[in-house]
Parts: sequence; structure tokens; C-alpha cells
Amino acid sequence: MKIGIIGASGAVGREMINSLEDYKLDVEELRLFASERSVGKAILFNGNPVEIELLTQERLFGLDYVLGAVSNELSKKYWPMIEMAGAVYVDNSSAFRMNDNVPLIVPEINGEDALKHNGLISNPNCSTIITMLALAPINKLSKIKDVVATTFQAVSGAGNKGIEELKDQIRALENNEEIKNEVFPKQIAYNCIAEIGSYLDNGYTTEEMKMQNEGRKILHNNDLNVSCTCVRVPVYRSHSISVRLVTEKKLDLDRVCMAVDRYPSLKLFDEDIPTPLASSNQDDVYVGRIRRDLTDENGICLFCCGDQVRRGAASNAVLIIKYLEDNKQ
Ligand SMILES: NC(=O)c1ccc[n+]([C@@H]2O[C@H](COP(=O)([O-])OP(=O)(O)OC[C@H]3O[C@@H](n4cnc5c(N)ncnc54)[C@H](OP(=O)(O)O)[C@@H]3O)[C@@H](O)[C@H]2O)c1
Repeated sequence: MKIGIIGASGAVGREMINSLEDYKLDVEELRLFASERSVGKAILFNGNPVEIELLTQERLFGLDYVLGAVSNELSKKYWPMIEMAGAVYVDNSSAFRMNDNVPLIVPEINGEDALKHNGLISNPNCSTIITMLALAPINKLSKIKDVVATTFQAVSGAGNKGIEELKDQIRALENNEEIKNEVFPKQIAYNCIAEIGSYLDNGYTTEEMKMQNEGRKILHNNDLNVSCTCVRVPVYRSHSISVRLVTEKKLDLDRVCMAVDRYPSLKLFDEDIPTPLASSNQDDVYVGRIRRDLTDENGICLFCCGDQVRRGAASNAVLIIKYLEDNKQ
């Protein structure tokens, strides 16, 4: 395969390169694109340096797949060029996720939807991927109707600049210097901030509504209602989500644990607690604290964690390509 990565120098783009190596995809040629400030810098792929280039129409020709790790605006700008070049675009931004003719894919859950693509496939929101992986085996046992979720989102969710802001603030506090916050709305060092995304008329944020809107599309469950609160926490890597869910039928907890344990890419924690630190730098979603909800007999509570840069973005996109290649007619 010939693969291009747009945003190759960013938090997600760099992990895409690692993930392509880890899954041993048969990559004959890799082209890396980023902004002008990264042009000429090289990133190692399978031990060989690959130089970052500026994206042009010419440089897209001949590619089979393009992985996108840039903003919504840039993704919208580049998609017509990728389409003209005839490559399949797997996009990490939210620009196209809710379009009817764009599959929104978590390969383990709805990989077969990807086979109906028209050249463009979206990767879901990071917290949504992690949460839906934890919920998918339960939704198979009995349809999930209602979810109340609280996310604990790492600073790397805002890209490289989010990591830098937390580091800078910790350094400034240790040296009694003035704190600057440009990426997050308040000081994130030693704090948490219940505001990610912009506010909608219903009082929820754009980030919070993704869990319901995208979750319905991934699980093929239009009856799914989700009330979500997204919270930024001073963790470098891995998002955690506290979930309370209600299913149509009352489920036996042992059956739920067994279903989670058997589901691909899930690791059941029945005697230990899943933490963001433990779940970092790998692709499994850790699920624990599974227990009966005390307010509804059909309710279950759980806590899950996953590396949002890898599992919630880069590796999910790479696994989409792998799924397409493995299921080629
Ligand atoms: N971080 C996460 O956990 C996460 C999870 C899921 C989805 N996403 C989504 O993935 C996308 C990338 O996020 P990120 O966190 O990786 O951001 P990031 O660390 O800020 O990286 C942004 C990338 O975009 C590149 N870029 C900027 N201007 C460009 C241009 N004109 N042409 C080509 N490339 C350009 C940057 O290149 P330079 O380095 O040269 O500026 C950099 O490689 C976003 O849509 C984000 O919402 C992120």
C-alpha cells in the first residue's frame, strides 16, 4: 500500500506512524504532510527517515489511503484534493462524521459499515470510541436505552499544545512565575475543567453531544440517549469515562463481565482498577468497577480507560485500513 498522513508531526499523526509499524501493514511508500514549519524534518518509519512535505495535489497521486490528523477546516479543504487523487480518506476530525454517506467506524463494532464507503471514512470522537467499545458487548446482550457519562479527558486530547501547556504551568508554579492559559479555558495544572468544546442551546457542549450522536451511528441504536459531561483533567495521556447505563432487560452482572472479557480489544479489570496511566501507549480499552446501579434495577455502572491518541484516534484509523484490506473482494 501507498499511504499518506496529513498532520504527521502532530500528536495523532506521530502515533499513526507507530501504529502502522505495530500492525505491520504492508506499506510500500509512506508520504508525510504537515504545515510549512515542519517541512524537511524527518520522522523514522520502520527505521528509515521519511521527510515531511507540504501537501500538493501532485503529491497525493498514486496513494491508496490518506490518514487525516488535522483540524476540521483543513480536513474540509484537503478532502476534494484527496478525492481527485483517488485515495481513500480516513479522517480523524469531526468534519464529516455525521454525514449520511460517510461511515463512522470502530472496526470491532461496525467494521462492515466501512465496506460501503464512497472514498471517505470518519474516525469517531476519542471518548466515544473508548466508551462505545466498553458498551458494545452489553448492547449486544440487551439494547442500551440511557447512558449518563462523565469523561476525564487528558490534555493530549488538545494535541501537542495541550501537553506543552500543562508542562509549562507546572514549571511556572514551581518557579513562582505567572501562569498562562491559552489552550484551556482555565489553569489545568492541579485542576479540572468541566468545559470541552463550545456551548449548544441545550446547555451541553459540542464535545458532550458527540457521545450520543456518534454512539447511535456506531451501535446502530437510534434509541440511545446520552447525557454526558466532559471534564479536562491534568493527565497527559488516556481518557477515562465513568458510565451509568440502563438496558431494556435486566442483565446478570456475571454475564456482563463475561461478555466484556470476551469482546475484542477490551480488558476486564475485575480485581484491579483501570487507570489512565496503565492504559497508555497501547490499544486495549480497560473496563472495571462493573456494578449494579442503585437507582434503576436495569442499570449498570462501570469505569473505562483508553489511550485516546492511539486507541481513540491513530490506531482506530489504522485498524480501519486493516479491516478494508482484510475484507477486500
Ligand atoms: N489528540 C487527540 O487525542 C485526538 C483524538 C481524536 C481525534 N483528534 C483529532 O485529530 C486531529 C489532529 O489532532 P492532534 O491532536 O494530532 O493535533 P496537533 O497535535 O495540534 O497536530 C496538528 C497537525 O496538523 C498539522 N498542520 C497544521 N497546519 C497544517 C497545514 N496547513 N497543512 C497540513 N498540516 C497542517 C500540524 O503540523 P505542524 O506540526 O507542522 O504545525 C500537525 O501535524 C484533530 O482534528 C483532532 O480533533 C485528536
